[in-house]
Amino acid sequence: MTSLWLADRANRPSPPTPLLETDRSADVAVVGAGITGLTTAVLLARAGKSVMVLEAHSAGAGATGNTTAKISLLQGTKLSKIIAKHGAKRARQYVEGNREGQSWLIGHCQAQGISVQREDAFTYAQSEEGISSARAELEACKAAGLAAEWVDNADVPFPFHGGVRLPDQAQFDPMPLLDSLIVELEERGGRLAQGVRVQKVSGQGDELAVHVRTTDADEFVVNAKQCVLATGIPILDRGGFFARLKPQRSYCMAYRVPGDITSGMYISTDSPTRSVRYAPTADGQRLIVGGAGHPVGHAKQPASSVQELDAWAKLHYPGAMQTHYWSAQDYSPVDELPYVGPILPGNDKIFVATGFDKWGMTNGTAAALALASRILGGRMDWAESFASWSPHELSGIPKAMQNNLEVGFYLARGWITPVTRIGDRTPDDGGVVSGPPWQLEGRSVVNGVERRVSPVCPHLGGIVNWNDADESWECPLHGSRFDPAGKLLEGPATRDLTAAQ
Ligand SMILES: Cc1cc2nc3c(=O)[nH]c(=O)nc-3n(C[C@H](O)[C@H](O)[C@H](O)COP(=O)(O)OP(=O)(O)OC[C@H]3O[C@@H](n4cnc5c(N)ncnc54)[C@H](O)[C@@H]3O)c2cc1C
Ligand code: FES
Repeated sequence: MTSLWLADRANRPSPPTPLLETDRSADVAVVGAGITGLTTAVLLARAGKSVMVLEAHSAGAGATGNTTAKISLLQGTKLSKIIAKHGAKRARQYVEGNREGQSWLIGHCQAQGISVQREDAFTYAQSEEGISSARAELEACKAAGLAAEWVDNADVPFPFHGGVRLPDQAQFDPMPLLDSLIVELEERGGRLAQGVRVQKVSGQGDELAVHVRTTDADEFVVNAKQCVLATGIPILDRGGFFARLKPQRSYCMAYRVPGDITSGMYISTDSPTRSVRYAPTADGQRLIVGGAGHPVGHAKQPASSVQELDAWAKLHYPGAMQTHYWSAQDYSPVDELPYVGPILPGNDKIFVATGFDKWGMTNGTAAALALASRILGGRMDWAESFASWSPHELSGIPKAMQNNLEVGFYLARGWITPVTRIGDRTPDDGGVVSGPPWQLEGRSVVNGVERRVSPVCPHLGGIVNWNDADESWECPLHGSRFDPAGKLLEGPATRDLTAAQ
């Protein structure tokens, strides 16, 4: 499951050396080497800060290396949702922040010779049912100051019942961007440590202690004056962001297709979501389709939706041959606006950047601009619409309560359901079964290898579910993921599942 962007990366900069014992302090520790963390790190290094980026896997291993990488201000039906909750003024601020993120990103790519394709973006109806929400998005775009228009037709081989078009947006391969940010960071004296997972951050006086664990199980502390958590969902429970975010996993496939692939970037308003773009590669173009999303840990058999997505691509692009298949997750904020700023009100030591709702190319860059300017003593006028703590969260309270009721439901269901199935056989490839009363066991079989783990998530005790499309364990509470052997892949958890008793 390697994305088109992460496969065959011959020109990637060589991995940096591990952190020496004498080199374990910085003005700012940035946790996470995706678009948000690396852009923040470079902006701070440009201003003379000493910056250390700590990455659990490798740069781009999270959503950034597994995205569809549309750099667009037309973002599905995002603006209708923001306007419904916050009104047009906030939506204009959100667009302004995204516009600034977009123009920084494209300007940086142009300056570095990184290929960016300028393309129109479409939010379209794939059936009659989708027309009203597409029309509503057009009105929302106008209210938020975007020069979008309605089109009845588009030159595409899949069902298209009209949609919104926003001209001159962009798309790219995100990995050359990350490579260029790493090179610049290191040229400016910053450091990137990969294979280093942050476990917790404690603080005394002016200094924070960032506790890390390497892939070789070495544990040590990095000292920093400030810390930015650019980890997708924040890894610290302070601030309770995990209760204000819904982790959403979705799937992408790349295909070699006979003939030309229609230009433009498409996302449907109606279900099941279909996201489409092309990507230039060394040996011709690829078609990319995305969709089959589900809240992490909630889908029974996600593999069937992935198969439907594949069948859809092959139906509408006859002769399409799948070359890549991958998945990733991003976080939907309960009140629709991203959370970028202090982890707790008034805290100017630890910052978060999350809630990009699958639109982090522009939002992540905007977050980096907002955080860097805040840390350096400036401010962005539009940053109010990205605030981590502000009155706008009030509008999210009903949704947060609903999410947390759901969390409570999944917590209880995770513990109870397997107990009611004592004696049942293990599901074919994976699932949670009961051992002796209350000693649950997660069993999986991948490539003929059976593994048994304790299914209790080390974050806050959720019971993980098996995902047959990713062949991994997923926690339905806050989205942590683990491989079949229980090794932590991602999420707010910072430890592995333990062995079955
Ligand atoms: C399928 C899919 C398609 C998408 N398509 C688009 C699109 O077309 N356009 C768009 O704008 N957006 C899109 N998005 C959203 C976008 O990809 C993300 O919002 C964006 O990449 C988030 O970047 P980030 O740097 O904040 O997080 P990430 O890229 O997820 O980076 C976080 C990093 O933190 C690291 N990390 C986590 N925990 C720790 C820890 N404890 N210690 C150290 N490191 C840690 C992770 O390994 C990871 O590398 C899509 C998302 C998905 C899932
Ligand atoms: S991710 Fe929070 S309990 Fe599992």
